[in-house]
Amino acid sequence: MAAALHITDVGPRDGLQSQATLVDTIGKRELIAALLAAGLRRIEATSFVSPQAVPQMADAEAVLKDLAAPAEARVSALVPNRRGLQRAVEAGAREVAVVLSATETMNQKNIRMSLEVALQTCKDTLAEAVAAGLRTRAYVAVAFACPFEGVTPTARVVELALQMQAAGAGEVVIADTIGAGAPADVDRVLATLLKELPAELVGMHFHDTRGMALANAWSAIGHGVRRFDACIGGVGGCPFAPGAAGNLATEDLALMAAQCGFDTGIQLDRLLQAIDITGRLVGYPVGGRSARWLRRQTSTAVSPLSAAVSGPA
Ligand code: COA
Ligand code: ZN
Repeated sequence: MAAALHITDVGPRDGLQSQATLVDTIGKRELIAALLAAGLRRIEATSFVSPQAVPQMADAEAVLKDLAAPAEARVSALVPNRRGLQRAVEAGAREVAVVLSATETMNQKNIRMSLEVALQTCKDTLAEAVAAGLRTRAYVAVAFACPFEGVTPTARVVELALQMQAAGAGEVVIADTIGAGAPADVDRVLATLLKELPAELVGMHFHDTRGMALANAWSAIGHGVRRFDACIGGVGGCPFAPGAAGNLATEDLALMAAQCGFDTGIQLDRLLQAIDITGRLVGYPVGGRSARWLRRQTSTAVSPLSAAVSGPA
């Protein structure tokens, strides 16, 4: 049996949060439905952040309300503080993600807190989420480099990741928020981190600013990591991190995984519909490097890679 590789599509949150076009709630729910229909079972659907800070996420409650999803699907929401957690719980969220940046300045820019206050806020929020019976993830953002402070010290990333895990994070997500890392950096961080934390508790979140996101994911796979964030169509980025470009595209990661013998549960041909919806919502053509090739496969009858394209029967 193929080994599982778990992809969390963060499109409805990371993908949309900095888009200039305001996407309405119906569109967001249509995208989530398309991702579920393509077999994704982990989706970061929205964020319960200040609507002043991120207007695009102002409809978080409405996005989650009575959302139809298979029982095994994990639909999560980002929360920056306990206020966000309370909103998420009231809206019926079963999984939340807290966010801590690994540098002082990035915390100030993103959530207007010092690193120390942000750390305590994450710990308090995680504890409250665990007590409420929620699944939890914790981002350690700007884990490779910070747009304001440069290269992030590995020891600090590892220390913060361990603190998040000790505080109750079910998964610690090492995030290359601005897409600055190379495979050698992934090796460096994971070689240290995985001495302290089992790979099952670690997720990776890459942006493709320098075209290295897929190579970085492959590097992490080599270390035994099997949990990845990705974003449909490769859109996305943090509005408070200058220079951040789109996320690793879900279709690129899913195709590589399929061709390398991993089971993601994703049907690649159905992913194309979610890419189309994303493009329509953001108002410009989107798609990872593989999207055009995938489209050609679905329009031809026989393909040497048809198994990889259509996924498990
Ligand atoms: N949801 C909605 N409103 C919130 C909130 C939340 N989670 N947390 C705080 N607020 C409100 C407060 O009630 C207050 O409202 P008021 O002005 O009507 O009284 C206002 O926001 C300011 O509250 P304060 O605690 O002073 O927050 P702040 O202005 O220092 O901002 C954050 C802190 C964390 C709320 C804000 O920076 C934020 O939402 N950042 C998210 C950034 C993000 O999403 N980045 C991308 C993903 S990593
Ligand atoms: Zn991101």
